Amino acid sequence: MDKFIINGGNTLNGVIDVPCAKNSYLAILAGCVLSSGVVCLHNYPKFDDIDKMLDILVSLGCKVTREENRTLIIDCTNINNYVIPQKLAKKIRSSIFLLGPMLSRLKRVLVTYPGGCDIGSRPIDLHLKGLKSLNAKIVERFGFIEGEATNLIGENVHLDYPSVGATENIMMAAVLAKGTTKIFNSAKEPEIVDLQNFINSMGGKISGAGSDTITIVGVEKLGSVEYTPIADRIIAGTYLLAGAACGGDITIKNVDYEHIYSLITKLKNSGCIIDIKDDTIRQRTNGRLKSFGSIETLPYPGFPTDMQPQALILQAISNGTCIITENLFETRFKHVPELVKMGASIVTRDRMAIVTGVEKLYGADVTCYDLRAGAALTIAGMVAEGKTILNEVKNIDRGYEKLEEAFNLLGADIKRETK
Ligand code: EPZ
Repeated sequence: MDKFIINGGNTLNGVIDVPCAKNSYLAILAGCVLSSGVVCLHNYPKFDDIDKMLDILVSLGCKVTREENRTLIIDCTNINNYVIPQKLAKKIRSSIFLLGPMLSRLKRVLVTYPGGCDIGSRPIDLHLKGLKSLNAKIVERFGFIEGEATNLIGENVHLDYPSVGATENIMMAAVLAKGTTKIFNSAKEPEIVDLQNFINSMGGKISGAGSDTITIVGVEKLGSVEYTPIADRIIAGTYLLAGAACGGDITIKNVDYEHIYSLITKLKNSGCIIDIKDDTIRQRTNGRLKSFGSIETLPYPGFPTDMQPQALILQAISNGTCIITENLFETRFKHVPELVKMGASIVTRDRMAIVTGVEKLYGADVTCYDLRAGAALTIAGMVAEGKTILNEVKNIDRGYEKLEEAFNLLGADIKRETK
């Protein structure tokens, strides 16, 4: 079991690049199944979840070539297997994103319930309801989801909740359907826009992504494409929050500041000096920052739930009290008891955390139970006095590529111990 040994107290200074977005790449990898040609993707990030998704594509009969300059060549022309291996599907949430593309391409799919970070019940009812609206036959039995679709037919679909995954699944089921599909109350995340652009560059006809209504006009088939997904806004925000918590002067490159404007606004109001120029953001901080006052996690463009744990760490050492409401996932405060061991003053009730800033955190032996909690507790170790041992850091590798090396590049002192 890998762990981090973190010696806290260093400020962060320097320049760092932001890699491609995990949550864009995973949806786009599912979208490769739709292509009757060859897909070339650039800048692939070496996150464990990406590798697992690639393993699933191979198991379906797709050819995956990893080229040395972080380019992937994915050829699904000979896809021939509609059964998604249970042991892989259970490990990641994005295995469920294959329902739509598989029904579109193979007319059949058999998959178990998805895995993903243990941050809530994470139902898939909106995915299944949306696919049934497009004339798919979906049966759930023996712990599996069996889908069949002799012919998918475009239809109007209203989502009870702007679910990212459900929006993506329905988009990908509609793109080769007969007729037009409109998704009302669709998710507006930048990753949805990226998926639209990727599919359109293969010959798809999608419009409206980024708004709450997406229109998909069905086409006959999709061809080959060369594409580079957008930057990872959650990693960009993680770096800025780490810089704010540790103090110093950092510059992050290759990021669209609009994708994290909810965070930038809060960081500025708390006392950070932030300069934005094209795709570069420079952040300077010295001394204790003011509390954000409140954080409400909401669908985009609200404050992202995937940045809540990292932001909570900053609030734990800021001046004042912050009320954090986690509106998306019902058990996304697992990092709090670990942080209290480090001296934080936090009370949680259901989906609310009341964080009273303390002067100092102290190193301790703590554990991360999910991806973003892992990133958050790494930051906590970097600001704490003394040594922190962070256990189960493989959780962090799901969505960060050697996070310890990225932070050490900026001046942190983190060693990974592999047992
Ligand atoms: C995606 O998960 C991301 N994962 C998550 O990132 C992110 O937190 C989430 O979107 C919200 O932005 C990937 O893209 C792989 P949702 P997803 O469907 O699609 C409810 C990370 O750390 N819901 O938008 O699973 C659900 O319970 C991960 O990178 C239903 O009720 O999220 C939740 O309350 C964590 N029924 C809300 O919607 C459904 O059928 C948001 O879920 C689907 C969702």
